[in-house]
Amino acid sequence: MENPINEIVEKKRLCKGVYEFWINNEFVAKHAKPGQFVIVRNTEKGERIPLTIADVSGKQFRIVVKAIGKSTLELCMKNKGDVLHDVVGPLGKPSEIKYYGNTLIIGGGIGIAAIFPIAKALKSFNNRVNVIIGAKTVDELILKDEFTFADDLTTCTDDGSYGKKGSVVDVMKDKLRSEKFDVIWAIGPAVMMKYASLVAKEFDTPVWVSLNSIMIDGTGMCGGCRTVIKKDGESEIQYVCVDGPEFDGRYVDWESFIKRLSQYREQETLALESFIK
Ligand code: FAD
Ligand code: FES
Repeated sequence: MENPINEIVEKKRLCKGVYEFWINNEFVAKHAKPGQFVIVRNTEKGERIPLTIADVSGKQFRIVVKAIGKSTLELCMKNKGDVLHDVVGPLGKPSEIKYYGNTLIIGGGIGIAAIFPIAKALKSFNNRVNVIIGAKTVDELILKDEFTFADDLTTCTDDGSYGKKGSVVDVMKDKLRSEKFDVIWAIGPAVMMKYASLVAKEFDTPVWVSLNSIMIDGTGMCGGCRTVIKKDGESEIQYVCVDGPEFDGRYVDWESFIKRLSQYREQETLALESFIK
């Protein structure tokens, strides 16, 4: 018998509060390209949760979810055999995958899942793929055994429990001092992407970041994900859901982006508290 659409066919705990799910959805699996995301709802009236498509296989696609608030916690409590209420996607513009030459692909924390399909696709275009993955501690260094295809893999942890001691941005700086890269991808927490973008700017190298803005409809209609891009002295509003999620981090107005991420913190805290009760 066929698995129902949006059924969770596999669930695996990657570390505390982070789960990998394989979802049965032939349409998403067939059309997904690196860099794209889906929007998932747990229930009919549930919040929409944007999640990067972290791999595809046959009729299934993978998401890696970090429980940080009510909706992601509710999703992480689902099990193999449960069916997600709905999944919309693939959404967003795909990453620009082509031959660049020497590429540097950086994933921090949960962002390691997002860089996986991008790095793999760049390799298939004969790029030299240098990967840096990092997390606070070894337990949080997810998917570290999956980058076997990379030409060079550097791992790091903030506490030195695995790989180099320090952040992915520290390792990135060292690499850029000794080697020239044609393009960089840096995906992870907003603050990490901000600092990676500043370093890339210093070395005059394009850097793609994937903005994890708060989203509502995911179709460019509500304005929830609007972001300021500043280039050549001009400010432009872009919508992460349709114009992104990837932007050259050198031009993102990080101050306003990071401020907008916490604009609903009070309501989100209340929603989580009443869900846990
Ligand atoms: P909320 O109650 O909404 O938020 C809890 C806390 O987290 C608050 O403090 C809030 O300020 C902060 N927060 C809320 N949204 C975000 C956000 N987008 N980024 C950073 N902090 C936030 N998450 C994953 O775990 N895996 C993914 O692959 C993934 N991919 C994403 C791809 C895109 C394109 C986008 C836009 C977001 C992605 N996210 C991903 C983030 C995820 O969508 C949010 O963590 C989720 O919507 C939070 O919902 P919540 O109700 O659990 O928490
Ligand atoms: Fe509504 Fe992007 S989420 S415009």
